[in-house]
Amino acid sequence: MQFPTTRMRRLRKNSKIRDIVRETKLQKEDLIYPIYFKHDLEGDEKEEISSLPGEFRYSLKSGVEFAKQLEKKGLRSIIVFGIPPEDEKDEIATPDYADTGIVQKAVRELKKQTNLVVITDVCLCQYTSHGHCGLIRQNDDTDDGIEILNDESLEYIAKVALSHARAGADIVAPSDMMDGRVGAIRQALDENGFYNVMIMSYSAKYASAFYEPFRQAACSSPHNGDRKSYQMDPANAVEAIRECELDVIEGCDFLMVKPALPYLDVVRMVRDEFMLPLVAYNVSGEYSMIMAAIEKGYLTERAIMESLTSIKRAGADLIITNFAPKVLLEDMIE
Ligand code: PBG
Ligand code: ZN
Repeated sequence: MQFPTTRMRRLRKNSKIRDIVRETKLQKEDLIYPIYFKHDLEGDEKEEISSLPGEFRYSLKSGVEFAKQLEKKGLRSIIVFGIPPEDEKDEIATPDYADTGIVQKAVRELKKQTNLVVITDVCLCQYTSHGHCGLIRQNDDTDDGIEILNDESLEYIAKVALSHARAGADIVAPSDMMDGRVGAIRQALDENGFYNVMIMSYSAKYASAFYEPFRQAACSSPHNGDRKSYQMDPANAVEAIRECELDVIEGCDFLMVKPALPYLDVVRMVRDEFMLPLVAYNVSGEYSMIMAAIEKGYLTERAIMESLTSIKRAGADLIITNFAPKVLLEDMIE
């Protein structure tokens, strides 16, 4: 009887051996937590989000307290989202660049009370009356009669980024997918002396169904039409390289692929092509899908670390994920 001289199972014999041959290790500093601050919550209030089991909308105070708790458990960075008053929304996203806006306030408090890297999501959709990520105009040559204006939107997007920088943001993260936004933001930041504020561009962001739980949480769905004329077609991968290339030329500091799990091939392509830190956004739908399956008993919590590790294995350096609190508070990473 001829036995194989190479036995793959030797390297899987026990956890001691498996630990030393493991290729990919998810670390606490790889995680970025998306936190949602809502303008009308006060004191210790927080509101459970039905589309995101276990996640909350926070008041200024309760959100900062939670961030501090996560920081003690090893969180290094946080990305801030705001939910403004419904009746303040308008065509040009006015509450988005107000010095007294919810994101601006949250950033000031986080910078004062924590040592976290503070990132802000820069987009108009939570703040426009129509829910699109840019300014709009009627145009019968489009699928739904609405044109999302590119160049006209850039000025407003840059204004938002600048106001976040003034509040103290370390990194601004534009998620609108307008052409030229990284360049417009870089210019606005530099002209105002914020040359050390970094830009984390949502470079390859797809028009995905997996954002649904977030849109419900943030009341940011477009009232008419969809986002397909600015976010990428899920069928395209090569196009992601062109998107990233332009962002690099315009001066971004971090690249991003979003969503993560259904686009791991794109994560790998971008990793191989560019020498910039790469972020993958494990979006709300990826979170809720697994949480729902765990609640039903179809999956166990092991699915969480397995998916996060696979995103890192595909080449991401950093992962934005709603799982960050669970992973840290339940000591899934030692
Ligand atoms: C705003 C924005 C969205 C997400 C991040 N920034 C929603 C969208 O583009 O409609 C999605 C986040 C998530 O689903 O977790 N443009
Ligand atoms: Zn948007």
